[in-house]
Amino acid sequence: MSFKEDGVVRHYASVDLLPRILAGIEQAGIDPESLTSDQLKAVDEFHIGGAEATAHLLDKLTIDQRTRVLDIGSGIGGPARTIASRYRCEVTGIDLTPAYVDTATELTRRCGLSDKVRFDVASATALPFASACFDLATMFHVGMNIPDKTTLFAETRRVLSPKGMFAVYDVMHVGQGDPAYPLPWSETPEFSALATPETYRSAASSAGFELLGETDRRGVALAFFERVQAQASANGPAPLGLHLLMGPTVGEKVKNMVSAIKAGMIAPVQMIFKAPAS
Ligand SMILES: C[S@@+](CC[C@H](N)C(=O)[O-])C[C@H]1O[C@@H](n2cnc3c(N)ncnc32)[C@H](O)[C@@H]1O
Repeated sequence: MSFKEDGVVRHYASVDLLPRILAGIEQAGIDPESLTSDQLKAVDEFHIGGAEATAHLLDKLTIDQRTRVLDIGSGIGGPARTIASRYRCEVTGIDLTPAYVDTATELTRRCGLSDKVRFDVASATALPFASACFDLATMFHVGMNIPDKTTLFAETRRVLSPKGMFAVYDVMHVGQGDPAYPLPWSETPEFSALATPETYRSAASSAGFELLGETDRRGVALAFFERVQAQASANGPAPLGLHLLMGPTVGEKVKNMVSAIKAGMIAPVQMIFKAPAS
C-alpha cells in the first residue's frame, strides 16, 4: 500500500463504525438483526444526495438480473446493496479500508443479501479480478482519494467487458481556488486528490472510454445540504445519518464543503462512460 493509500485508510478507519451504526439502528426503533437495504439509506450512501443521487445515476443505465456489477470504493455497501435489491443482480464491492469492508459485509448479512453482494479489500488501481469479468462499474465519491486517475480508468477498463459501462459520481474541482479543509474525504490537502472534470475525461479517453454524458449536480447538492440542515435544526441529529461516518470534525467538514460548492470551486459531477467494443 502506498503512503497516500495508507493515509486514506487511516482517515476512514478513524471512526468506530459498526457499533455506532448498530446503536443508531436501535435508536431508530429498527430490529438490527433483520434489516432491509432501504432502512439503512440515511447512513450507508456516503455521497452528496445519498440514495436520491444513487437512483439518479442508476436510472441512466441499463441493468438487469444478468448484469455483473463492480462497485469501486464501496464504503459500507449502500450503493452495492441498492443495486442488488433493485435489479436482483450480483454485485461485487471493493474498498481500500478493511473496517469499511467488514461493516459492509456485516450489514449485508443482516439485510439477507449475502448471496447477491460480496465485498473485498482492494485498491481501485490494482483490481484483483480477471479481465472482462464485469459489465458495469460504478464509483460514488471515491476518485477524490485516488491521485492516479490514469491507472484507475485503465484498471476499470481492463475488468469491463466490451461495451461495458463505467458510471462515476465524484466531487470535482470545477472552478478557481482551493477549498478549506477538513473535507469529508480528507482532513488535509495531502490525502485529497480532487481533480478537474478534464482530468477525468482525459484519463478515461486514454483508457479507450467514450464519454456518453456529463452532468454537474451542484444545484442538487445545495438543496440536499439545506434539507439536511433544516432537519437537524428542527429535530437535532437523526439517529441514522452520514454524521456517524465523519467523526468529531463533521461540522467543519460539511461547512467547508458547502462553502466551496457555493463559491463554485467544487461540485459533484456525474459522468457515464462506455468501454470500446473490443
Ligand atoms: C466517501 S466514501 C464513499 C463510499 C461509497 N462509495 C458510498 O458512496 O457510500 C469513499 C470510499 O472510497 C474508499 N477508497 C478511497 N480510495 C480508494 C482506493 N484507492 N481504492 C478503493 N477504495 C478506495 C474509501 O475507503 C471509502 O470507503
